[in-house]
Amino acid sequence: TKPAASYKPDIESRTPPYPKLLKRLHEVRRVLGSSRQLTLAEKILYSHLDNPEEALLSNTDNGLNIRGNANLKLKPDRVAMQDASAQMALLQFMTCNLPSTAVPASIHCDHMIVGERGADVDLPESIKGNKEVFDFLESAAKKYGIEFWPPGAGIIHQTVLENYAAPGLMMLGTDSHTPNAGGLGAIAIGVGGADAVDALVDAPWELKAPKILGVRLEGQLSGWASPKDVILALAGKLTVRGGTGYIIEYHGPGVDSLSCTGMATMCNMGAEVGATTSLFPFSTRHISYLESTHRRYIALQAQTIASSSSIHNLLRADEGAHYDEEITIDLSTLEPHINGPFTPDLSTPLSVFSKAVKSNNWPETVSAGLIGSCTNSSYQDMRRAEDLVKQASAAGLKPATDFFITPGSEQIRATLDRDSTLSTFEDAGGIVLANACGPCIGQWKRTDNISKGDSNAIFTSYNRNFRGRNDGNPETMNFLASPEIVTAMSYAGTTSFNPLTDTITTPSGDLFRFSPPGGAELPEFGFETGNPDFLPTSGAPSPSTQVVVSPTSDRLALLEPFAPFPDHDLHGLKVLYKVTGKCTTDTISAAGPWLKYKGHLPNISANTLIGAANAATGEVNVAYDVDGSTSGIPELAQKWKDQGIEWLVVAEDNYGEGSAREHAALQPRFLGGRVILAKSFARIHETNLKKQGVVPLTFANGEDYEKINACDEVSTEGLYDVLKSGGKGEVKVVVKKKDGSEVVIKTKHTLSEDQCGFILAGSALNLLAKMKRT
Ligand code: F3S
Repeated sequence: TKPAASYKPDIESRTPPYPKLLKRLHEVRRVLGSSRQLTLAEKILYSHLDNPEEALLSNTDNGLNIRGNANLKLKPDRVAMQDASAQMALLQFMTCNLPSTAVPASIHCDHMIVGERGADVDLPESIKGNKEVFDFLESAAKKYGIEFWPPGAGIIHQTVLENYAAPGLMMLGTDSHTPNAGGLGAIAIGVGGADAVDALVDAPWELKAPKILGVRLEGQLSGWASPKDVILALAGKLTVRGGTGYIIEYHGPGVDSLSCTGMATMCNMGAEVGATTSLFPFSTRHISYLESTHRRYIALQAQTIASSSSIHNLLRADEGAHYDEEITIDLSTLEPHINGPFTPDLSTPLSVFSKAVKSNNWPETVSAGLIGSCTNSSYQDMRRAEDLVKQASAAGLKPATDFFITPGSEQIRATLDRDSTLSTFEDAGGIVLANACGPCIGQWKRTDNISKGDSNAIFTSYNRNFRGRNDGNPETMNFLASPEIVTAMSYAGTTSFNPLTDTITTPSGDLFRFSPPGGAELPEFGFETGNPDFLPTSGAPSPSTQVVVSPTSDRLALLEPFAPFPDHDLHGLKVLYKVTGKCTTDTISAAGPWLKYKGHLPNISANTLIGAANAATGEVNVAYDVDGSTSGIPELAQKWKDQGIEWLVVAEDNYGEGSAREHAALQPRFLGGRVILAKSFARIHETNLKKQGVVPLTFANGEDYEKINACDEVSTEGLYDVLKSGGKGEVKVVVKKKDGSEVVIKTKHTLSEDQCGFILAGSALNLLAKMKRT
């Protein structure tokens, strides 16, 4: 147990490197000309460029068309990882044999904790069930100087907001809701583990310069409307793909009316519209939030920079800066929204929700209400929900359904405990779960009478509502709303209830109507630190620490570096499988029960391509060997690997669409995959393949897909020369059919000089490790 009084966060590592960033912004101005107006997102991003001149002038009409064209090589200030994705990130980092991480980093144990009966029971059980993973993460954190937040400390994004996010910071996080930190003016981007490792080893992290979507906020929120409603309404306008390739930059007079944590909620859910990230300009609410979270030292520096009238003001957009697209939202007229079911962009204003319930035949009864999570567990969120609970309790009401509360961090939990908010919830019958993801990530063992397959409606203040996400039941409809609306719905128990206009009958027969909720933005007596056991370990490396990985573990396995590319073209590859139709990252590396093996590459590889349809037969996960025998795809891949046969996969369009899941590239590589030959690739997955040493080739003529089949023997022609010349030249594949005939297929590639280096070295990490050693 660490005494709370002795806990001294490392101020230096938690302060953005402002002098360096300002110097870099000066350089950006020199390159682009001082009259060029920049958005806030551009200023922060470009101030993190490894080489501004090279990035901003190449491929951009000499700096005129940067957004959407430039290839930015960025040096982030910090990395945050959650427990599920940190495993593979650390295992990859360890192959580089470096003594410590190059930038400050943190690990947060939040995803593997169950929400069921309350924190006191759930937390110890979850720790027991995942002990070897937590022990591994803690020992690796200690060795390499990463701050380790143990199970129970809180959810990654809330903890980051309270401790690490800061105006002007650039951070990568191995979780898609990392943009939450944009509420405090940071550029924070969700990435896969291999990308996080780039930052951890001080290699530039590459990003195609995003376009900027300006969202101008006017007026101010009042009554029931909350920041959550702004992003719920925006998601309805933009749809789940509307933000792809964009950074959402909020601006306008309405910004000043929003609390810092409210801004974080809006940035958090920018992930739901596919945005690269979202962010807010510096505001006075940033100062009060930084001060109340014990970071006056950052507030002072940021305030000085933000009040500068010079063109080197890093924390505000230039007057007149141009956005690629712009949307205006009037906060004064915004009404609460409810989004769902099954997709976060199905947005319905509260006033017409009861009609939508009827016309869509959605369930009439609310089966559970859940508030909190990384999206909505701020002090203000909880105090506003508490206000409603107090109103209802005074009228003699209890929630009509199960009501769960997830505090986002120990700091929030302890402060709400001190201020009697938690006891208000508990007295009303609410169940306070551990400070962790719990039901939001499916770690919810329901104990009510809903069985798998029962259609039912839950209301949550979470951010995602895909089928089966919360309780594994594909018929559970998760309606996303603000914590205030979720709380009110939990009391009414009916989905057609409108708390602004409708009444609930009290036990004494009176009619009760909620008044609009109110609640303090920040605690009057400051935040509590809470249980000292939940404080992080120090960020100082301890090189003698032994990283704990049991050789008999089925959940963790150390990684062996992949072999380098041979010094000649590839010969004797065999087509393992010819895929027809969609092939997403889920098809290549399924989630669900396989998530347990995220830290064990051999075990998780047993799911490789199990969702892929066979082009010859239409069967899913049925592969044919040369002798006609059949097996699952991973079994055939393993068999060939054991026989020393390397292979390729042939596929159609947009191979690898979906998430940035690095396992979808790592697993084929591990099982002996060398080439993926497709009609086209999803961009992120194509990059991931190259990073792991797999060569992505596209058919020069899409019809040639018909000329190649499973078990054909393939050689490359020109590939080695392309790799040696840094990406110049063409590659052909020579296909030898079973009858001995040969077909030559022309292909295209997008290999850059750096990526050729990755493939020659065997993987990007091999190359980085080699560079660090020399
Ligand atoms: Fe955790 Fe759900 Fe947020 S899984 S990080 S609480 S989106």
